[in-house]
Amino acid sequence: MYAQMVKSEGSNEKHTEQDTAFQARIDAGEKIEPKEWMPEGYRRTLIRQIGQHAHSEVVGQLPEGNWITRAPTLERKANLLAKVQDEAGHGLYLYCAAETLGVSRDELYDMLHSGKMKYSSIFNYPTLTWADMGAVGWLVDGAAIMNQVPLQRTSYGPYARAMVRVCKEESFHQRQGFHIMMTMCNGTDDQLRMAQDALNRFWGPALMMFGPSDENSVHSAQNMAWKIKMNSNDELRQKFVDETVPQAEYLGLSVPDDTITWNEERGHYDFAEPDWNEFFEVLKGNGPCNTERLEARKNAWDEGAWVRDAMMAHAEKRAQRKKMAG
Ligand code: 3HC
Repeated sequence: MYAQMVKSEGSNEKHTEQDTAFQARIDAGEKIEPKEWMPEGYRRTLIRQIGQHAHSEVVGQLPEGNWITRAPTLERKANLLAKVQDEAGHGLYLYCAAETLGVSRDELYDMLHSGKMKYSSIFNYPTLTWADMGAVGWLVDGAAIMNQVPLQRTSYGPYARAMVRVCKEESFHQRQGFHIMMTMCNGTDDQLRMAQDALNRFWGPALMMFGPSDENSVHSAQNMAWKIKMNSNDELRQKFVDETVPQAEYLGLSVPDDTITWNEERGHYDFAEPDWNEFFEVLKGNGPCNTERLEARKNAWDEGAWVRDAMMAHAEKRAQRKKMAG
C-alpha cells in the first residue's frame, strides 16, 4: 500500500485552507509532531526520505563490516566495530521516526527488499583496501554530516530530534576516517598510494551522495518549502567540496579532478560534475555491488525469522500470563 502512496507523492493534491495554515506553521519555524494534521504529500515524502535514510544507515554497515576482522590494530578494530554499531543505531532511530508517520517497520523492510525504496548510491561501491575505511569515514560520513546537520532543523519533530544524535556520532566517524587517512599518508609509500587510490575511487561517488543536480532534482522545491530539506543538492555538494579540498591538500593527496580551482569571484572551488550516467545506473540497480548488498539484507531478514518468531511468542506468552494474573 505504501509503495503506491510513496510513488504518487507530489501528485496534484487540492490546495486547501488547511494546507495554507500548515505552510504558515512551517514558515514560522514550528515543528510538526506525529499526531498533528499534515498534508498527505508531506507525510508521504517524509516516509520516502526517512525510510531511504534508515535503509542507507543499515546497508551502510556492509562495506565497513567487511573490514572488522581485518583491521590492522586492536584499537582500529574496536573503533570500526563501534562505528558499524552506531550505524545500526541510526537505522533504528530513523525507522522509529518513520513509524510515527503510520508506516510499519515490516512495510519499510519489504519496500527495501523488493527494490521499491532506495538506499544511498554510495553503498553500492566495494571497499577494496584498509585505506577505504579511511576514505569512507572521511568522505562518506563527511558528506552525510554536511547533509544531516541542517536536517536537525527540519520541520518534522521526530526526524529533527533523531538527527541530533546521529550527527554527533557521524562527526566522530568522520574524524576517525580522517585519522586513518592521516596515518596512511604519513606511512610508507605503499600506504600513501593506497590512500590516494581510495580517494580516487570514492571522490565521484561521494559527490553523488548529495543527489542529482538541482535542475534534475524532483523533490527539492516542494521539500525545501516544507523544510523537509533545508538546502538544495548543489548547495551542499559545493559546501562539501569547499571543505574537503583543503583537507586533501593537508593530507598531501590530490583530488581526482584536474579542473578544481579556487574561484575568487564566487568564493568557492570550481569543480567537475560527477559522472551522472554512472549515478543513474547505480540507482537503477546496475552499480558494482547493488545485487550483493540487497542479497545480504534479504538473507539477514530470512535468517532472522526465528528471532522475530521467538520474540513474538515470548510477547504473546507474557500477555497471556498477565491476563490470567489480572
Ligand atoms: N542515492 C540514492 N538515491 C538518490 C540519491 C542517492 N545519493 N540522491 C537522490 N536519490 C534519488 C531520490 O531518492 C529520488 O528518488 P525517488 O523519487 O525514487 O525517491 C531521486 O533520486 C531524485 O532525487 P531528488 O533530489 O529529487 O531527491 P531528494 O529531494 O529526496 O534528495 C537526498 C535526495 C539529498 C539524498 C535527500 O533525500 C536527503 O537529504 N535524504 C536524507 C539524508 C540521507 O538519506 N542520507 C543518506 C546518506 S548515507 C548515511 O547517512 C549513512 C552514514 O553511515 C554515512
